[in-house]
Amino acid sequence: MCLLLAFFVILSSVAGISNIKNYYNVGQKQPKEITQLPGLDGKPISKQFSGYVTVDKRHDRSLFYWVVHSERDVNNDPVVLWLTGGPGCSSMDAFIYEHGPFKFSFKGGDDGADIVLEENPYSWSKVATMIYVDSPAGTGLSYSRKPQDYSTDNERTVEDLYSFLVELFTMMPELSYQGFYIAGESYGGVYVPLLASKILNMSRSQRGMPINLRGYMTGNGVTDDVIESAGQLEFAYGMGLIDPLTFHRVQEDCKGNYWDVDSDSACALSLKKAYDIFYWVNPYDTLLDCYLSAQKDEDKMTHSAHKDVVNTLSWKAQLGHTVPCANRRVALKWLSLPEVRQAIHAVPVQELSWQPCSDILNYTINTPVSMINTHKELLHAGLSALVYSGDHDFIIPFTATRTWVYGMGLHELSPYSAWKVDDQVAGFTVSFTSGLTFATIKGAGHMAPQTNPKETLHLISRFLDEFR
Ligand SMILES: *[C@@H]1O[C@H](CO)[C@@H](O)[C@H](O)[C@H]1NC(C)=O
Ligand SMILES: *[C@@H]1O[C@H](CO)[C@@H](O)[C@H](O)[C@H]1NC(C)=O
Repeated sequence: MCLLLAFFVILSSVAGISNIKNYYNVGQKQPKEITQLPGLDGKPISKQFSGYVTVDKRHDRSLFYWVVHSERDVNNDPVVLWLTGGPGCSSMDAFIYEHGPFKFSFKGGDDGADIVLEENPYSWSKVATMIYVDSPAGTGLSYSRKPQDYSTDNERTVEDLYSFLVELFTMMPELSYQGFYIAGESYGGVYVPLLASKILNMSRSQRGMPINLRGYMTGNGVTDDVIESAGQLEFAYGMGLIDPLTFHRVQEDCKGNYWDVDSDSACALSLKKAYDIFYWVNPYDTLLDCYLSAQKDEDKMTHSAHKDVVNTLSWKAQLGHTVPCANRRVALKWLSLPEVRQAIHAVPVQELSWQPCSDILNYTINTPVSMINTHKELLHAGLSALVYSGDHDFIIPFTATRTWVYGMGLHELSPYSAWKVDDQVAGFTVSFTSGLTFATIKGAGHMAPQTNPKETLHLISRFLDEFR
């Protein structure tokens, strides 16, 4: 009975999605420019294009993208593909809250109804042409006509991203002339190196399109589950979120393993006790508020999402499906406006509602994850890498990233030292002869470009310029 009911619901929503094809994908070989946007006074500073690339014609599995030309020198600036993590979190979230070309806000404060778009002085499009894509299908504004496509994994996701790039570069060949970089945060720490590896493999096999891949960037990126779960404990202790007694008890009970802990064990119990001490702290940015008690519906949603995360007994909080503590009202509102959907060439809101993180995706993660060997392979192939960490993130803390970066045994090119913006220390950085640079961003959380946009732009711009 339950199954039948679910099946019926899925079928009816699919019927809606199948209609989309006719009026939205016609002429997809022609990029569609965005000429006006609700809330924006005038035209965008640089050219912008958006729409869908169909990566599977039989299923009409289509990925939504938004291209923002560099505002500096579109013919010579690098091209950066951005991938938000999750799995299942929308890159439009980064477009709106992190490094997109606009700052979004409610006119007249948070209780306002109208949304205004202003120039973001720290947009990454100041120094690069940006490609935002919602991946995999089932994320953000991307969809498939076959619901079974929403059960997916790294392999399929990377295949689709590769097909997407080939189609996009075919449609907009000017994007393929410059140096190409892949960037992402959180679970993007898995997508980014895998996609880079796929591109290299395809180029080597002569079957693929030549793509001028130069390097990649990850921000608080998932890299190694075992190291990251231990890094969280180290972070919690170092940041004063737990006391010495609790710290030592967890160490004793867990005997060095904090990953995939048996829920009945003494270790799990100690971890839960430790967690309870800092339950109310925003795990994505220990300096930020956690939206909990406000009366608004959206805020209630984030409250329960927060509970989901901290109630998990495993020390490593789940990354997918929730944005705990975060207020996403501007994005939820703006992306639900019919006139916005029309302006950005996206499917109508009746057919697909936008969520910061997908609740329809069924993503299989092969755990424990470790991307360290892939990083080695990419550096060996001559790519450059920027691995950055907002140093107030508990989810993928700098303590973990620092451990695997130094653990690779690379030779230092320039030693660990402060880097500055406007004569003030913005974080610490070290670079290695193999082409890897590690940098912390002082006072930033999981989504560093959101709270520290100026510093983050400075950091990525310096990295990209080195290889221009
Ligand atoms: C989720 O994906 C797994 C692995 O492909 C599959 O076995 C399972 O049936 C899927 N679950 C749903 C609800 O689709
Ligand atoms: C690329 O090739 C290497 C060597 O054969 C392999 O280990 C790796 O898994 C491949 N990468 C992808 C993303 O398929």
